[in-house]
Amino acid sequence: MTLNSATYLSGFGNHFATEAVPGALPVGRNSPQKTPMGLYSEQLSGTAFTAPRSENRRSWLYRLRPSAQHPAYQPFDQGRVRSGPFTDAPPSPNRMRWDPLSLPEPATDWVEGLVTYGGNGDADVQAGVGIHLYAANRSMTDRVFYDADGELLIVPQQGDHAFVTEFGRIDAEPGHIVVIPRGVRFRVECDGPIKGYVCENYGAPFRLPDLGPIGSNGLANPRDFETPVAAFEDVSRPTECVQKFGGRLWVTTFDHSPLDVVAWHGNNAPYRWDTARFNTINTVSFDHPDPSIFTVLTSPSDTPGTANCDFVIFPPRWMVAEDTFRPPWFHRNVMSEFMGLVAGAYDAKEGGFAPGGASLHNCMSGHGPDQASYDKAVAAELKPHKITDTLAFMFETRFPIRTTEWAQTSPTMQLDYDDVWTGFAKGDVGQ
Ligand SMILES: [Fe+2]
Repeated sequence: MTLNSATYLSGFGNHFATEAVPGALPVGRNSPQKTPMGLYSEQLSGTAFTAPRSENRRSWLYRLRPSAQHPAYQPFDQGRVRSGPFTDAPPSPNRMRWDPLSLPEPATDWVEGLVTYGGNGDADVQAGVGIHLYAANRSMTDRVFYDADGELLIVPQQGDHAFVTEFGRIDAEPGHIVVIPRGVRFRVECDGPIKGYVCENYGAPFRLPDLGPIGSNGLANPRDFETPVAAFEDVSRPTECVQKFGGRLWVTTFDHSPLDVVAWHGNNAPYRWDTARFNTINTVSFDHPDPSIFTVLTSPSDTPGTANCDFVIFPPRWMVAEDTFRPPWFHRNVMSEFMGLVAGAYDAKEGGFAPGGASLHNCMSGHGPDQASYDKAVAAELKPHKITDTLAFMFETRFPIRTTEWAQTSPTMQLDYDDVWTGFAKGDVGQ
């Protein structure tokens, strides 16, 4: 099977077994003395060997050539990618919001179109996240990318994407998310402009959250996660391999495509998920559950209940709460919130937060509805109504987010963002 087709296996974290050529996958052992068809066996570990079984992620790959067959990497200065620890600009406590990225003028591929807005932690100690956006308009050609510093959770916002990976091909469009494990090589193809968001997770791999009293169903359901079947390309021409390691980009040139995995098995593999499958759960009486009720995936930290990063979505849904201010109320949180908008409008902002834009509300910064949203919400007749045509999301992380110099000085930054909270009338206590 070539990489031009996309077929999927269903389930989150399953131990899949898939082969593009019948008989390519060894049976009963991972590394037989002679691998079928003269393929090379390779283990790709996503966790330490001795991680508990419930946490352990690894896959066995059977490929045309060994992954080790390449010359040394050299620095690759893309110019706008930064990494934890984020030290290129002073930390800022201010609330920030950005207009969408412009589409690039010259031909730009996904790697060239990445720009870092900020992040936290340290890639080397495997804690924290990097937050990037991208705008590109051409496919990666004879070039692949992998990230040794973290797992990539990608949120397409514009255009059809194809993620051609070592494990097979994933097609994605706005509304999907794609997760690429640490170290997995891939190419992004497109036939027009594409934009989106990336959470580079330095910490524990994303997994489904526990559901507690919700029970065994709800939120993102395991069977809706889709992992590609094995597919490979047999290409013997120079292919650049760009990697992110130690906070920097590096490049080498293989004499072949490294997307040459003919068969694989295991549970460390890329996947996609359609946000339309989210089983949204919320109040049917009054008040708001905390926004953790919208968690799709979580990267836990060493502190129980305090995530390195949660991926949270705000999809179309019914609003039915009685005697309740329905948009999010004002809040100040220990967790830091980076938001993006895939489509439509977000219910706590009447304007200024555009699809493709972004906002940051850092640890303990006061935020909430803007004046227009507030005025509308307190005057609304509280009938059940459905919020449609919207898809906002949040990367919520335990550490404050330090923005890059680019993000702090970009012309897309809205210097008047604080003004959305000016002008609220004082409460009247009759004195
Ligand atoms: Fe918030």
